[in-house]
Amino acid sequence: MKDFLSLKDYSKEEILQIIAIAQNIKQQHKSSIPTPLMKDCTLAMIFEKNSTRTRVSFETGIYQLGGIGLFLSANEIQLSRGEPIKDTARVIGSMVDMVMIRTFEHSRLEEFAAYCPVPVINGLSDSFHPVQLLADYLTMIECGISLDDQKPIVAYVGDGNNMAHSWLMLASKLGFELRIASPKGYGVDLAIMSLAQGFAQDSGAKITLLEDPKEAVSGANVVTTDTWASMGQEDEKEARVKAFDGYQVDCKMMSLAQKDAIFLHCLPAYRGYEVSEEVLEGGQSRVFLEAENRLHAQKGIMVYLHQNYKGNGC
Ligand code: CP
Ligand code: NVA
Repeated sequence: MKDFLSLKDYSKEEILQIIAIAQNIKQQHKSSIPTPLMKDCTLAMIFEKNSTRTRVSFETGIYQLGGIGLFLSANEIQLSRGEPIKDTARVIGSMVDMVMIRTFEHSRLEEFAAYCPVPVINGLSDSFHPVQLLADYLTMIECGISLDDQKPIVAYVGDGNNMAHSWLMLASKLGFELRIASPKGYGVDLAIMSLAQGFAQDSGAKITLLEDPKEAVSGANVVTTDTWASMGQEDEKEARVKAFDGYQVDCKMMSLAQKDAIFLHCLPAYRGYEVSEEVLEGGQSRVFLEAENRLHAQKGIMVYLHQNYKGNGC
């Protein structure tokens, strides 16, 4: 697999291999040991949506691997003036060693990757946010919640969006229990759910879609949520705030989970909406470790792709 567009294209073994690379690189980084595994490589980073974590972690990550990152805001390249994706992909791909894209429709990424001669990484699309999920799983492992001990229970409370879809992929590939609670009309894409159910048959994952957030959180090891209005849905915010009434992860909801459960959120978080201030800042929250792990997980992804695909060969 040349690209990293969704976890649906990766096996459990490959996902764990990337995590192992990330853990190794993180350990070396913490011991101030340089890891120039992508020396002189160039990573182009195309952003059609805003970002704090994805931009900083990829740019810093490629630098720490010995390469350089090119930040390309979609507004400032010819893509926004109508240059076709397939032309942009061939041009950029002929000059750099790897590309990361944050965009809207997942099909834009797939088209870019089909025409781009070098590996393409999904830095978030409307359907998936796979790089975030590797950081989330790395965080779970560091908090002692992994497949090694028992099958963890993850409860996702909120919008059936790109994060919910990515949890579906991770759980169904790795084989843990995932409960997703969303209000009627805001659930996950059923085509993605059915894909996950197919993977779950092989992995032994248990996946449940619910409407009751309390039922989802009850006895969970990990409680997670995401914004109720994703990028591109700003006009729907008012209607969504009404629809998600009762879905805020607050202390009362957290108290239904395991005593030592952790709270995760990909961030940015909207306090007072999908999560209360007390939970986000509380003792069970691991959101800033999770954010830091974006750096390490993505270095793992870049190194994995680089080692497995030597196209331009930097
Ligand atoms: N979680 C995440 O992807 O954050 P950014 O939008 O800041 O990149
Ligand atoms: N679901 C959110 C995630 C942000 C990192 C969005 O797509 O805006």
